[in-house]
Amino acid sequence: MPAFRRRAGLLAALLAAGLAFASQGAGTAAASGADAAVERGARVYERCAACHALDADRTGPRHCGLLGRRAGSVPGFPYSPAMRRSRIVWTEASLDRFLKAPLQALPGTSMGYDGVKDERERRDLIAYLRAAGQGPRCKPPE
Ligand code: HEC
Repeated sequence: MPAFRRRAGLLAALLAAGLAFASQGAGTAAASGADAAVERGARVYERCAACHALDADRTGPRHCGLLGRRAGSVPGFPYSPAMRRSRIVWTEASLDRFLKAPLQALPGTSMGYDGVKDERERRDLIAYLRAAGQGPRCKPPE
């Protein structure tokens, strides 16, 4: 009898796990292509998180508000002269160019990072930066 109950318990656990897995799969499949890109981009962003955060300056400047702002314009952040004088405005196109090879795109930048070489990873990353900029961590303080 105890053996039977153990097996029944195991079966129930397996069933629950299977159901959880199935519903997760359905959720992922239902997510639009854009959501999936943002999700992949969030994982690429983990490489940036050594130096950046969305809502706080670290080694690198905060990324909230990035799309549409002038390069080198977060007040108080100690940018390189190269970044401050670059006259870049951060758009999908300028980010793509910079993130592919920061040191080549902007000689003199103090961003010591080799870049994201994979084109799709860059696209996903930029989709993430755009979405995160409109997300709860980037809401302006009330
Ligand atoms: C080793 C630390 C480091 C890593 C890793 C890093 N950054 Fe940076 N980032 C910096 C620094 C420092 C600056 C300021 C550069 C300057 O002033 O020239 C910067 C600047 C930037 C800027 C310009 C922001 C502005 O306000 O003008 C963008 C955009 C940026 N980083 C995106 C990224 C992304 C996306 C990643 C991940 C793929 C990344 N960075 C990885 C250190 C880093």
